[in-house]
Amino acid sequence: MTKAVITGVAGFLGSNLALKLLTEGYEVIGVDNISTGRISNIDKLNPFPQFQFIKADITQQSILDNEKMVKIDEVYHLASPASPKWYQASPFNTISVNTVGTMHMLELTKKHGAKMLYSSTSEIYGDPEIHPQSENYKGNVNTWGPRACYDESKRLGEVYCYLYHSLYDTRVTVARIFNTYSSGLWQEDGRVISNFVTQALKGEDLTVYGKGSQTRTFCYIEDTITAFRKMMASERSNGEIFNIGHPKEYTILEVAKLVKKLTNTTSNIVYKELPEDDPKVRCPDISKAISVLGWKPRIELQEGLTRMIEEYKNQI
Ligand SMILES: NC(=O)c1ccc[n+]([C@@H]2O[C@H](COP(=O)([O-])OP(=O)(O)OC[C@H]3O[C@@H](n4cnc5c(N)ncnc54)[C@H](O)[C@@H]3O)[C@@H](O)[C@H]2O)c1
Repeated sequence: MTKAVITGVAGFLGSNLALKLLTEGYEVIGVDNISTGRISNIDKLNPFPQFQFIKADITQQSILDNEKMVKIDEVYHLASPASPKWYQASPFNTISVNTVGTMHMLELTKKHGAKMLYSSTSEIYGDPEIHPQSENYKGNVNTWGPRACYDESKRLGEVYCYLYHSLYDTRVTVARIFNTYSSGLWQEDGRVISNFVTQALKGEDLTVYGKGSQTRTFCYIEDTITAFRKMMASERSNGEIFNIGHPKEYTILEVAKLVKKLTNTTSNIVYKELPEDDPKVRCPDISKAISVLGWKPRIELQEGLTRMIEEYKNQI
């Protein structure tokens, strides 16, 4: 039986990945300090006898010696606040989890001869000067601003991955994740899709920052999880970075209008000041994932949003 460690298991991506792996018979050790994650996500995993949970902060070295950490094959390192609302609320913790926490997970991977997937982010491209962004693009990130704690620490996390791979031959693959969504997003999470759908279903105004002309792309959770699985399984992914996202680009205003249409809400769209360093465009070039992993997303935004809205209706 394959044994996987998932950090950030109480979060959006971690809990969905754990559910998928457990359903397929994996043994899963989930680690989380429940900072931005939710206990209700762990409750869904507890019925599986092959699931074990460790409540811990991965920036503490003691995680390496935890008695449950035996015979590990795969490490999915997903712990880190991901929404600007949360990573800016505790910037020093954000830096620690992406640097010291990543080093601990690489150490664990090395010790067990396992393979690690590191969850990097499209944010490492900052406010990009080339469009769409391929993995070769080195980025345009501001060190002197409210997003820097996340963007720069994720970049340093990639450096740790590079060093363990090149110095110690540790097997590691890096996913630069672009916006992923589904009803698994916590309504209070603060990310654009969960904000819009929650506001629309509650009949509140939809908040657009700036003019809404900034672009983003949106990948449904199932596609992102499939990409993670392919990255872990592929021999050719070792020591490689992949953009994981949907390549269809939307302006934020287009997304707000689509949510309005799909929810049939009477809510209006209101405009607020654009936050500092908000990227103007963001779109992945996924040709590497297509050619090396044979992966591309299948679920279009309208279909994913329709599913999400139905499920959110039951939750709100
Ligand atoms: N979801 C996306 O669209 C997206 C996009 C780009 C990158 N990512 C990356 O993917 C990963 C997962 O994102 P998510 O959307 O599931 O975020 P999330 O906030 O829902 O989950 C992150 C989890 O990590 C846990 N955590 C935070 N610090 C920790 C620590 N020190 N020790 C142990 N656990 C800790 C939190 O409690 C939470 O359960 C993150 O690394 C994020 O940066 C996600």
